[in-house]
Amino acid sequence: MAFTLGRNVLSVWGEESYRREIVSSPFFGVTSFTLNDPEAIRHVFVDNHEAYVRTSITRRMLKPMLGRGLFLAEGEDWRHQRRALAPAFTPRAMDPLRPLMTRIAQERLDQLARRTGRPIDLFEQTQRLTLEIAGRTMFSMEMTDRAERMRALVDGYAARVGPSVFDLVLPANMPNPTDLRRGMAANRFKAFIEEMIAERAAAGPAPDVARDLCDLLLAARDPRDGSPFDKEMLRDQVSTMILAGHETTAVALFWTLLLLSLSPGHQEEAAAEAVAWSGDDGTPLPAQLPVIHAVASEAMRLYPPAFLVTRVATKPDRIGAHAVSPGDMINVSPWLLHRQERLWADPHAFDPRRFMPGAPPIDRLVYLPFGIGPRICIGAHFATTELVLVLAEWLKRFRVERTDDRPVMPVGTVTLRPDHLARFRLHARM
Ligand code: HEM
Repeated sequence: MAFTLGRNVLSVWGEESYRREIVSSPFFGVTSFTLNDPEAIRHVFVDNHEAYVRTSITRRMLKPMLGRGLFLAEGEDWRHQRRALAPAFTPRAMDPLRPLMTRIAQERLDQLARRTGRPIDLFEQTQRLTLEIAGRTMFSMEMTDRAERMRALVDGYAARVGPSVFDLVLPANMPNPTDLRRGMAANRFKAFIEEMIAERAAAGPAPDVARDLCDLLLAARDPRDGSPFDKEMLRDQVSTMILAGHETTAVALFWTLLLLSLSPGHQEEAAAEAVAWSGDDGTPLPAQLPVIHAVASEAMRLYPPAFLVTRVATKPDRIGAHAVSPGDMINVSPWLLHRQERLWADPHAFDPRRFMPGAPPIDRLVYLPFGIGPRICIGAHFATTELVLVLAEWLKRFRVERTDDRPVMPVGTVTLRPDHLARFRLHARM
């Protein structure tokens, strides 16, 4: 589309962004700061986080889909939502979802087993699997025919979401042609989510023990007055969790499998762990499957699905030697941060040993696949649980191999997607 800005954000960063602690550059009348310095990141995202909010571009791109949900909420409203939702995302709350995630992965991978030896589009498969898991852990509903519709609706929005020149040059309160296209695609998605929630409500009230994330969201209460989410808010929270959660996890799974296909030694080591594993005993997964956990963590270091986290300053501030004015933009790119030579040994190499038990501890401010500070990803436990369980089931069944040598390049849009439909072959292990 002619008015869409450069499609690959990664190509905007010159070599200095991989070396310098703070890079500042003019950006449409304000200054844009890219932070690669742990102390500067702590200042903006932890110590002084209240002075920084989501940018108007982020809001513009995501508001039609995410509405009043947690991702776009700010200030007091955000604080109350976050407190109401937090109990649904603790490691304990994931316990009842673990057998469900495993079962969905097993069913889906058993189907994929029919296609061993033939080329498959790996990204399409990881997207289908994570959407199926998102849908079923949310609604406990069979997604078989719905998953395809949901995938088309999410992809339809993704194709229209990217920032356009209109977004930058026209005032935020004036709807532009890109906003109209986003609005139409979002309305179709929201109607679909409302349909799912209504079907779910028709199936009867929630039992005492939560069956799924939807029950946990229904049980969430505003800490101020004990009230539940209203209908529209429930829809916005469900949409937020599906959108923030499924694509990021699909991308993480894709890059992990790609890296393993390029590194047969690591693939065999992870597969041996999966084959020897006697199944989830309910204890912490990184202890049950340390190699697979390390492989997924290292893949998210090299290919962080949320490759760019942005904020805008609401007050004058200082970041180190730099004066910040209201309206200035702050970027932290896990992609850049995770590849800094000052902070990582041999940063471009795939080396899961960095994350194995006994390795030197990794500073929380230099490894940020899930962000940092009070707005850190609420779904981080959900995502790591899903990644480790799915990878264990996957590697137990299949050896993953590329069908050609064409390099797969990352493209930074909203997440870090592969640049082309990369084909892989699965070989049965059992
Ligand atoms: C590998 C998978 C995932 C990655 C890499 C990821 C990454 C991130 C990052 C970097 C942020 C922080 C953004 C910021 O500070 O501006 C974030 C926020 C968020 N994520 Fe995730 N995420 C993943 C999975 C999930 C899942 C599974 C869910 C829900 C089920 C989820 C829901 C959210 C929400 C609601 C927020 C906003 C939190 C807030 O503003 O308080 N994410 N995610």
